[in-house]
Amino acid sequence: MNGVVLISGGGSNLQSIIDNAEKINLSIQCVVSNRPDVYGLERSAKANIPSCILDHKLFKSRRDFDQALMSVIDEHQPDIVILAGFMRILTDEFINKYQGRMLNIHPSLLPKYPGLNTHQQAIDASDTLHGASVHFVTKTLDGGPVIAQKKVKINPEESAETLAAKVLKQEHVLYPEVIHWYTQGRLKLLDATTATLDGQVI
Ligand code: GRF
Repeated sequence: MNGVVLISGGGSNLQSIIDNAEKINLSIQCVVSNRPDVYGLERSAKANIPSCILDHKLFKSRRDFDQALMSVIDEHQPDIVILAGFMRILTDEFINKYQGRMLNIHPSLLPKYPGLNTHQQAIDASDTLHGASVHFVTKTLDGGPVIAQKKVKINPEESAETLAAKVLKQEHVLYPEVIHWYTQGRLKLLDATTATLDGQVI
């Protein structure tokens, strides 16, 4: 399957997808970053994957940016759009277009802690478990149906930084695995709140 990966930063999840691409039957057609000078772009260059910078600051509105992003994505006719640390709120028009073939990874055990600063929130709440979730992207921010999660324990002396590193390690295992389910045709979005794996509601 052909995929386009959207990033905004270091791209360690992108790296794990690149490293597993052959195994999970994914051909990454293009990496798009909304920020110039991020390390994720170097990762795509090293892997000889075409990339594109669409700096959101150069667009008049969110809609204009999303229109340009759709044009870039559609040049590659992807079967799957993979958000890997892509830090932009997307317009409904954009989401409607790719709903059912767009995945995101989020660093919390959703539905807990959508949005930012998830690691600190988990520590502040004295949670003993934290983790990462992969979900289909729908119009609710970080609110589409969860497909799979990985959990980590929160130690008593945990900082947001140590916890983030632990979670990220799990993300690198989780995301390629879920993408593989998708490329095998095992994963479907039935409606905005329901996903299935092998025909079974998750
Ligand atoms: C990850 O924690 C991901 O869950 C979140 O943003 C971070 C991206 O990290 N959406 P990286 O750019 O893949 O290293």
